[in-house]
Formats: sequence, structure tokens, C-alpha cells
Amino acid sequence: HLGQLIQFNANPFFEGANAAKHVIEGAILVDNGMVEQVGEAQTLRAEHPDAAVQDHGTHLLLPGFIDAHAHYPQTGMIASWGKRLIDWLNSYTFPEEIRFQDPAYAKEMAERYLDILLAHGTTTVCSFCTIHPTSVDALFEAAAKRNMRVFAGKTCMDRNAPDALKDMAQTAYDDSKALLDRWHRKGRASYVITPRFSPTSTPEQLSALGQLWAEHPDCLMQTHLSEQVDEIDWVLSLFPKARDYLDTYEAHGLLGRNGLYGHAIHLTDRERSRLKEVGAGLIHCPTSNTFIGSGLFDMDGLTQAGHTVGLATDTGGGSSFSMLRSMAAAYEIGQLRGRALHPSELLWLATEGSAAALRDDSIGRLVPGAAADFIAVDLASTPAIAQRATRADDIWEALFPTIMMGDDRAIVQTWVAGSPAL
Ligand code: GUN
Ligand code: FE
Repeated sequence: HLGQLIQFNANPFFEGANAAKHVIEGAILVDNGMVEQVGEAQTLRAEHPDAAVQDHGTHLLLPGFIDAHAHYPQTGMIASWGKRLIDWLNSYTFPEEIRFQDPAYAKEMAERYLDILLAHGTTTVCSFCTIHPTSVDALFEAAAKRNMRVFAGKTCMDRNAPDALKDMAQTAYDDSKALLDRWHRKGRASYVITPRFSPTSTPEQLSALGQLWAEHPDCLMQTHLSEQVDEIDWVLSLFPKARDYLDTYEAHGLLGRNGLYGHAIHLTDRERSRLKEVGAGLIHCPTSNTFIGSGLFDMDGLTQAGHTVGLATDTGGGSSFSMLRSMAAAYEIGQLRGRALHPSELLWLATEGSAAALRDDSIGRLVPGAAADFIAVDLASTPAIAQRATRADDIWEALFPTIMMGDDRAIVQTWVAGSPAL
């Protein structure tokens, strides 16, 4: 067999009582961009003596991170100071998004963004683009160059935005449909129908996009829901007949199992039960929720009720491109709400949980048949992390300091479809 055997030593530097349990060396057999086998290195080496072996020593191999909600056009204005949601959009976000009318700028930012993601160990993103169709082409073209599994769509807005960022109900439908036909399921691309949020779409535009979704029910639909209290008040004043924020989507054909609802912080009981009933995906964006001052996502209540929850950076509302930092922020928000999320839950959210929300079981896991999108993680990437990790008794204790204090220095290498990225 001529695959590639990528080997690691599960957790070699434990000093604690359980150290003896953890000296297993693991390996992943990769062929044709896919994971063929996962198991003990010794066994796999014996079974595949001709496979080229790469030994990654003490580095831990994990599935690549999956960022389930981001705005690649906000790369250039991330970490903008001092505003809450609506003022932040008007002061910083919209002016930057206008710049994407220039296809050369969109291309430059798309390339830069995906390289930043790969350096942070993120192999899949579900991103908003701008209203400009060329901003969607730019991201999918940059993703195809890197062979990355990327989900994205044209952001639609026909009110409450600068003229340069407005389309119309019909052009939003036409442009989205043309992009969907061009990109959806081409290579590793998936098109996502993308109304920004209720305040920036007329009922006519929401209906037009609901119609498009009804015609392509296998497509995902992404938007924002109940992020800030002021935003919710605004939505209810714009849609006087709506029972609640979710109803503004529901009434226009924009509520469904393949829907992704970013933030979903301040939900009413009716919204919770409707979201649960349809099995929609809720996307937790913890660094954004603290940075913009939005509120504390109810991870415990929602997961115990059986909701599908993914994890995301929401850059540039989020303050970091790193899914490690997002896991840390999810942990901190859990603490503020009264429960410490276990490192295994945090890691699950950033990989398999986000994959489940994106309805793709070929990513986010290292199992036979999955895409070979994975990373090598240094659990001792800085002196501060190293001195803490060496005291660990088990793998979760060894990983947690990297979750809380790690950044792109912890990501030693990223593979996309079996090949090293960057
Ligand atoms: N709501 C509508 N648009 C946006 C956006 O770009 N970022 C965030 N965080 N919330 C939004
Ligand atoms: Fe967002």
C-alpha cells in the first residue's frame, strides 16, 4: 500500500500518575486525500510496510478546526474599537465591505484570509461575503487553489445599509441563484444562501431568498439571530406583525433544518421550541459576543434540550481568527453561566460539532472515509504552556492549557486533503 502514514506519540510527556496509560503511538493512514485507517502506529506500520512514514513525534494530530460562521471581508477591520453592534456595522463594517466592489481587493483579502485560517489550524469555514458576487468568486477561487472545503454566500441587503451595499429583492435572488449554479457542489465548495439579518432585508427580499431556498433545499442558509437586545427591539419595530425575531425568518420561508443562525443569545421560549422542532443549527460565536458586548450564549440549556450547536469566530465581530481562542471564550462564557465546559466538549464543538451544524459528516473527524483535513498541535508551544502541560495526568489536562493560552504557534502543521497547506 502506497499511502502516507502520519504518526504521532499520543501524549509522551506526562509526569502524572496516569502517564503509563498514555504511551500509545497513534497513526493515520492517508491516501487520495482521505483518511484510510486510524490506529496504533506499530500495527499500521506492519500492515502497510510500503507507506511513506512521517513521524510527528510529540505533536498531537487532530481534525482541522471548522469555523461555522465568519465574515472574510471583515479581515481588514477586525479589532475595531468602542462600538456595539449597530454602530459597529455602520462605523467600521460597511465602509470596509464597500471596498469589495473592487475584485482585485476581494481577491487579495480572500487569499490572505484563507492563509490566516490555515496558519491557525482551520481547514473549513462557513463565511459571509459582501453583496458583490465577485467577492464570492474570490473566496471560492482562493479556496479551490488550496483545495479547502469552504461554505460561502453573497450577503444580501436591500435596506438600512449604504447605497453602495444594497441590492434588491430580485437581484438578490438572481445573483444568489447564478452563484449557486456556478459554485454549489463544485469541487469542495458549497453555496450558502445568505440574507445578512432581518433589519437589512425587506420582507420582499426575505421572501425571494426563501423561494430560492425552497428550490434548493439541500443548500444551507445562514443569517444572524437575536444577537443584541437593541437589535431585537429594532427588528420588532421593522416587522410589527412578527411574533418574535425568529418569526421574521419563519414567515418568509427562512426557517429550516439546513438553516444556520449565528449568535441566538436572547431567545424566547417560542423561538427555542421552534428552532428545536425544525432541528436548525445554532452557531455560538463567543469572542464576538464578548467583544461587541452582546451577551452569554446558553450552551448548557440549548445542548441539553437537544439543539444542534456549532462554534465560530464571527470575525471581524469576533476578536480572533483562532478556534483555540474561540474554545477558550466558550469556556469563559460557560463559567459565567455556571458550568465549566470540559476540554473534550470544547474540542468537539470546534470540529465534529461545527461539521454537524454544516451537515457534513466527511469533515471534523479522523475516521476512515473522512477527508484528510487535519493538524499537528504542539501541546507545549510556549514556555508558559509547556510548564503547565507537563504536569498533566491525562490528555484533556494536557490539552487544556493550549486551549486557554494557545494561538497559531501551537499549530505546527495543517494538512488539507492529505497535503501540507502553506
Ligand atoms: N449582524 C448583522 N451583520 C453582522 C455582522 O457582520 N457581524 C455580527 N457580529 N453581527 C451582525
Ligand atoms: Fe456574523
